[in-house]
Amino acid sequence: MNTRTNHLLATVLSTVLLTAAFIAASPITASAQHHRAHPGYPATPDADGRHVNAHGGCVIAHDGQWLWYGEARPERGFTSLGVSLYTAPMTENTPATLSSLCWKSHGVVLSVVDDTASLIQRGCIIERPKVMWNARTRQFVMLFHLELKGRGYEAALTGFATSPTPEGPFTFHHAQRPNAGVWPADFSNEDIAKAKRLSVSDYPEWWTPEWRVAVADGLLLNRDMEQGQMSRDMTVFVDDDGTAWHIFSSEENLTLQAAELTPDYLGYTGRYYRIAPGGQNEAPCIFKRDGRYWLICSGCTGWDPNEARLFSSFDIRGPWTQHPSPMRGQGARRTFGGQGTWIWQQSALQSIYFMADVWNPRSLAASRHLCLPVTFDADGFPVVNGPQ
Ligand code: DGJ
Repeated sequence: MNTRTNHLLATVLSTVLLTAAFIAASPITASAQHHRAHPGYPATPDADGRHVNAHGGCVIAHDGQWLWYGEARPERGFTSLGVSLYTAPMTENTPATLSSLCWKSHGVVLSVVDDTASLIQRGCIIERPKVMWNARTRQFVMLFHLELKGRGYEAALTGFATSPTPEGPFTFHHAQRPNAGVWPADFSNEDIAKAKRLSVSDYPEWWTPEWRVAVADGLLLNRDMEQGQMSRDMTVFVDDDGTAWHIFSSEENLTLQAAELTPDYLGYTGRYYRIAPGGQNEAPCIFKRDGRYWLICSGCTGWDPNEARLFSSFDIRGPWTQHPSPMRGQGARRTFGGQGTWIWQQSALQSIYFMADVWNPRSLAASRHLCLPVTFDADGFPVVNGPQ
């Protein structure tokens, strides 16, 4: 049995055990359950007093409002209801945090559907939705990680949806794997020739030194060339020149890719670059400050927290340099129990926050939200202190 099979078995086993533990637990109310799972973190109540059900999301500014989009998750189970929206008025002079605002719920603005022919049919998984306003097309464009009903995490697709208004309803546009048939823009002819010679059947055993070299050289890029690159955990970034980028965990979550989006944000130009090949990074969160791009990621441990990773580059196309984790204080080694989802830049106030989810796999809807200020040390490196 190879390591990949071991990996799969471990995931299946832990899911079965988790589910069994859940069923075995005596009936408890939702709030007691949430309290037990996260004694340290309070809920984030919306204007109606309900915990904000928007996870793996983003907060963007629009017309004097903060728009908070995120995964609408059921109380139980691992599938999706769709993407929810909460709004709050922007405050003039005070930096806002997720818990300092009064969030009005607009419900689910991109909903899963009952049509069994649809890729977003009920039972699918919609994760990490990110929304951008496209001034050219005058549409809000939403990108998200989509997994198909009943197929676990194997599809690894990016979904696209649009709406002329922030409240939607968003119309599902299409889903795809990025950049089928295209090699990374910085691959030379020799790099391409080398990658083309790599075959997964020659590397049945994962994590060996030879396998690591092959992954870095494009073993999985080559495997997925025809159907397109895998795209799971993701974020988006619109640069100062208006170019939009989609940054996602690809190649079996081993390598991040930064792919340029078309001007309508509904597809790929074919220019893409790899970040930290073989580094196993998830949950990418990006921001730019004084011409330098900073990327905060997590490792890959399912719903469990792990140590954050930090990268920087002076060009979004790379090369990227890895630095020590920016998290400081008690719990920093496990990102205070959270996993990053978005960097919330409140530009007028020059405030930057690291938003993270404290996942609760027993009830994803109850997962908590962290919103921690990003400060900078004397060398200009970001620092994130734990919750007070
Ligand atoms: C970690 C990812 O960051 C989450 O978005 C989700 O996909 C879980 N893995 C699933 O285990």
